[in-house]
Amino acid sequence: MHVRVALLPGDGIGVEVTNAATRVLDAVGREFGHQFEYTSDLIGGSAIDAAGTALPAETVAACQAADAVLLGAVGGPQWDNPKASVRPEQGLLGLRAALGVFANLRPVRVHPSLADATPLKASLVAGVDLMVVRELTGGIYFGQPQGRSDGPQGRAAVDTLNYNETEVRRCLDVAYHLARQRRRKVTQVDKANVLASSRLWREVHHEVAAHHPDVRHEDVLVDAMAMHLIRRPADFDVIVTENLFGDILTDEAAVLAGSLGMLPSASIGEAHNRHRHPRGLYEPVHGSAPDIAGRGIANPLGAILSVGLLLHHSLGLTTEAAAVENAVDRVLTAGYRTPDLASGEGTQTLGTTEMTDAVIARLH
Ligand code: IPM
Ligand code: MG
Repeated sequence: MHVRVALLPGDGIGVEVTNAATRVLDAVGREFGHQFEYTSDLIGGSAIDAAGTALPAETVAACQAADAVLLGAVGGPQWDNPKASVRPEQGLLGLRAALGVFANLRPVRVHPSLADATPLKASLVAGVDLMVVRELTGGIYFGQPQGRSDGPQGRAAVDTLNYNETEVRRCLDVAYHLARQRRRKVTQVDKANVLASSRLWREVHHEVAAHHPDVRHEDVLVDAMAMHLIRRPADFDVIVTENLFGDILTDEAAVLAGSLGMLPSASIGEAHNRHRHPRGLYEPVHGSAPDIAGRGIANPLGAILSVGLLLHHSLGLTTEAAAVENAVDRVLTAGYRTPDLASGEGTQTLGTTEMTDAVIARLH
């Protein structure tokens, strides 16, 4: 297979982990006979510095011409002024919208040897294997009107939360499709006791669920879910929810895995066929971590596991994807850790490059 990948290293450790991820992708190419060809473009803070905008037109064009997009991270304190009119995050939101990637997949698996790495009881996180499907191109992130005004009561601001049934249904379809390849359970999270948009989600959910009698389903209120997620996380399989709830719950879910540095994500749009999503956007869940940028100690595993998701969801290369996941598993079982992961007896701490070497050495 010949594949064009658009790289968007972004800011901070985004650059280091993207480099690690492409080394793994090239190793997969050598092992399985594929060729990966790359373009590299600016996004986020580095794009603001170079071009005055967080999402230059060339960047969008390169992503649209590629088979898949691999992104590092965006942001940093130098671009953090809340009054600034250009902000790194605009690059990310604009790209999601431009690529139409409406479903964000964030799998959380707890590797047995990392059960001690979480601040929660190890017994509680043992066996956690869940998949959050977060709606990514609608809801309060994109609703209009949005903005500031001045009125008789002083400063005012508005954000708008709206959804239509098409947006809701396509996201639920992704969740059910995934559930059928997993443990066949879907938990839809909303705030239907208060929000009209949540009541729409719940209504459409029941219609979609009726088409999948072989999948167990439930609706859970988001405030209760925040609690269940750390009290009994192993009970969940696929969790599906709107944009803002998904943003919040996935940071919470990350705690289960021991380190934000471990988590990959895939953002996908309409499928070409049941398995291949062209122009998916793949990125580790972690941010640009300016405090450790350039020191060679960032955990590359979230980015490397994102390569696994890219192989799976955009290219349909499931054997290759499994090889990447297994290599990461074996590295952790062998006791290798980056500094963000708890170390202990029988473990050895590695930097970004050595950790990547260790994964590549186990790719068969
Ligand atoms: C995420 C991030 C982004 C979001 C920010 C950086 C805009 O928190 O991908 O979860 O809120 O979607
Ligand atoms: Mg977030």
